[in-house]
Amino acid sequence: MSLISVDHEKCNQDGICVSECPARIIVIDPETGYPVPTPDFKDFCLKCGHCVTVCPTEALRLDWLSPEDCPAIKKEKVVNSEQAEQFLRGRRSIRSFKEKQIPREMFEKLIDVACSAPSAKNQQPWHWIVVQKPTEVRRVAEMVIEAMRMLNKMNPQEAEMRGVPRVLASWDQGYDRICRGAPHLIIVHADKNWLYGPEDTALALGLLDLYATSLGLGACWAGYVYKTTNAYPPLFEALGLPADHLAFGAMMIGYPKFSYRRIPIRNKPRVTWK
Ligand SMILES: Cc1cc2nc3c(=O)[nH]c(=O)nc-3n(C[C@H](O)[C@H](O)[C@H](O)COP(=O)(O)O)c2cc1C
Repeated sequence: MSLISVDHEKCNQDGICVSECPARIIVIDPETGYPVPTPDFKDFCLKCGHCVTVCPTEALRLDWLSPEDCPAIKKEKVVNSEQAEQFLRGRRSIRSFKEKQIPREMFEKLIDVACSAPSAKNQQPWHWIVVQKPTEVRRVAEMVIEAMRMLNKMNPQEAEMRGVPRVLASWDQGYDRICRGAPHLIIVHADKNWLYGPEDTALALGLLDLYATSLGLGACWAGYVYKTTNAYPPLFEALGLPADHLAFGAMMIGYPKFSYRRIPIRNKPRVTWK
């Protein structure tokens, strides 16, 4: 099969695939009037699937993707703007969790949806670690505390700046500010040399957070976890990250103990209108 195949019976020659291709590697053949790949198509295709999924007549397929592979967007499932606003504004960072555990299939679904985030050049650079056992999450928190105690000793000024003494005091009083007693932890990591690693992975984790809300789950970024993972080799190794990767985000996750009744007010947006 060629790189692109176009069903001439279905194609209405509207040129939408040409307009929407981000790499500009589909052109209209002047002789036939149908879309064809440019000679460098293979080198520059992002594998974003836009050409297949935007075609209104399902005329175009790639050697690796056909319209039937791609779920249809159902009109009745499109959220309206009021629903979207409440959903987006109503998401909260959850820090109190039930003991109930999330089943593995739910994690799979969460991560699958998170992977539909945008990524630079559609690189989808994210890798995931799911710490499923609450005892292992506790172990991660303990290791972060170990690292914090070392920092507090060696560089008290820096530790103070990062709020470490308060975190340690809480821990010593029996409250875990690292993972907040969450039953599970999700860590996202990527190649440390990928230019857009921080953005791509944060976007994916952001989607995961939102989708978790829709599943009745609660999540919260675990900033101390991923920052310490990169700075403290014993934790990096315990989590099993590849040497050339960095942890770019971590999220505590579980079933929320409480539900929020109202939406807190944010700062006024700082916008420069030009
Ligand atoms: C990069 C990042 C790191 C964060 N780290 C932590 C953390 O370590 N512990 C925590 O309890 N919350 C953490 N948070 C959650 C923020 O405190 C929270 O988003 C903020 O207070 C606003 O609350 P909301 O998310 O419920 O709107 C983090 C958020 C982000 C974006």
